[in-house]
Amino acid sequence: MPLLEMRNIVKEFPGVRALDGVSFDLDVGEFHAIVGENGAGKSTLMKVLSGVYPYGSFDGEIAVDGSPRRFRSIRDSETAGIAIIFQELSLVKELTVGENIFLGREPSHFGVVNWGKMYQNASRLLRELGLPLDPKAMAGTLGIGQQQLVEIAKALSQEARILVLDEPTAALTESEVETLFNILEGLKRRGVGLIYISHKLDEVFRMSDRITVLRDGRTVGTHLPSEINKDGIIAEMVGREVGDVFPAFSHELGSAALSVKGLSAFDVDDPARPVIDNISFDVKSGEVVGIAGLMGAGRTEVLTALFGAWPGRCKAEISIEGRPVSIRSPADAIRLGIGFVTEDRKRYGLILEQTIADNMTLAALRNVSGRFVTDRHREYSAVSETMAKLKIKANSAKTVAGTLSGGNQQKVVLGKWLLTRPRVLFLDEPTRGIDVGAKQEIYNEIHELAKAGMAIVLVSSELPEVLGLSDRVLVLHAGRISAEFARGDAVPEAVMAAATGNL
Ligand SMILES: Nc1ncnc2c1ncn2[C@@H]1O[C@H](COP(=O)(O)OP(=O)(O)OP(=O)(O)O)[C@@H](O)[C@H]1O
Ligand SMILES: [Mg+2]
Repeated sequence: MPLLEMRNIVKEFPGVRALDGVSFDLDVGEFHAIVGENGAGKSTLMKVLSGVYPYGSFDGEIAVDGSPRRFRSIRDSETAGIAIIFQELSLVKELTVGENIFLGREPSHFGVVNWGKMYQNASRLLRELGLPLDPKAMAGTLGIGQQQLVEIAKALSQEARILVLDEPTAALTESEVETLFNILEGLKRRGVGLIYISHKLDEVFRMSDRITVLRDGRTVGTHLPSEINKDGIIAEMVGREVGDVFPAFSHELGSAALSVKGLSAFDVDDPARPVIDNISFDVKSGEVVGIAGLMGAGRTEVLTALFGAWPGRCKAEISIEGRPVSIRSPADAIRLGIGFVTEDRKRYGLILEQTIADNMTLAALRNVSGRFVTDRHREYSAVSETMAKLKIKANSAKTVAGTLSGGNQQKVVLGKWLLTRPRVLFLDEPTRGIDVGAKQEIYNEIHELAKAGMAIVLVSSELPEVLGLSDRVLVLHAGRISAEFARGDAVPEAVMAAATGNL
């Protein structure tokens, strides 16, 4: 008997049938991956399982150990031994790591929380998991990767029998991923069933006992990894052959659009310690410059500092198209024609309560920069065009952003900056959480923008993406540029050597 059975699940939202009769099962100690395009219904299926959508709001049946279950809340599913790590981080930023882990389940005596014991438990758990985190640190001060690890610790503290992970590795470093996989192997041996959602097919093939493919709210197939390959899975996901994801390109380079001399940014808590240490580079119009490096090397910090958003002290001589400028805030940067697709789409990315159109149009930027005068009608059709170009899955531009699937939200952030046509565009992890088919569309779009003369700086933790798209690659190591490669010379081994400081 399977540990978990979901039968003929149908879930509708106004105007969208997100799940159209999905069946899925999970065995004891099984690692079962679910893959599918952005908007295929993966997260929705898991929200049905975990009681986010209570019994009665969907059709179909759920059984654990063969007995039917009707969850009315997340609490109900937790009691049945189901823990879920959501795609969107849900930590309370104002609470500590320990408080987040045991939120609502704090050890207490006659209603008084035993803080000492809670932090002890948190320390032990973090140590067992091999996570180098301080249980008393505020969650909001952690990077996204670390927040993700806290989410994982939180789920594991519930001693679940079924653990759902919805894109857990999107923001993890390679070593954090290994830590996670070790933890998951251990859980498997203890009989925990794992449901794993990811767009990273390498991970899926490496770890899975079975792989289920969803497309448009239906199950297209369940496979043993030994019986299918990546191309086969991709073809089932997108319903066509995808071919080479990185298109051939040639960019015509103009003069320097952005020049940076002596950029340093200092630690917020320790203003003497440079996080970025005296780096200089330029980006020509029509050029894509990739920044490679390990997580923590300072990639995001370079972009954040140049965008005027670094919270600590920083200094640099910056010129835009040969003219010296001073950038003290994101508003300055936007006014000077710099756009920034951030890795954390909630940061200066997306307002979840607003429509796609409101998020994407210049109105969103006008608030920051005060520059734009807009024609609503023209704007709306430009939005629709961009939505089609990026294949954003939504009923219309009036759809509320928060109801989109994770990957489609990311596309809205990208679309917003495409519409403003900045001179210089910073892309930080532009395809995080994006399915393979849609990645290809985004790559094509990046080349189109470069051909139209935009200067692009690309940061990505996926090395093939940096190498496959860039005219030139800068490698950061410990806040400095440790190497620079022209397109043809940027082979993975050389770039990795420079990234790890082994030149
Ligand atoms: N609360 C909601 N209201 C309206 N529509 C929704 C809501 N949640 C999801 N949808 C729609 O249901 C469909 C499936 O979304 P879901 O989030 O399950 O996709 P996904 O497979 O997880 O995609 P991704 O890979 O991008 O995370 C999408 O069309 C989405 O817009
Ligand atoms: Mg999702």
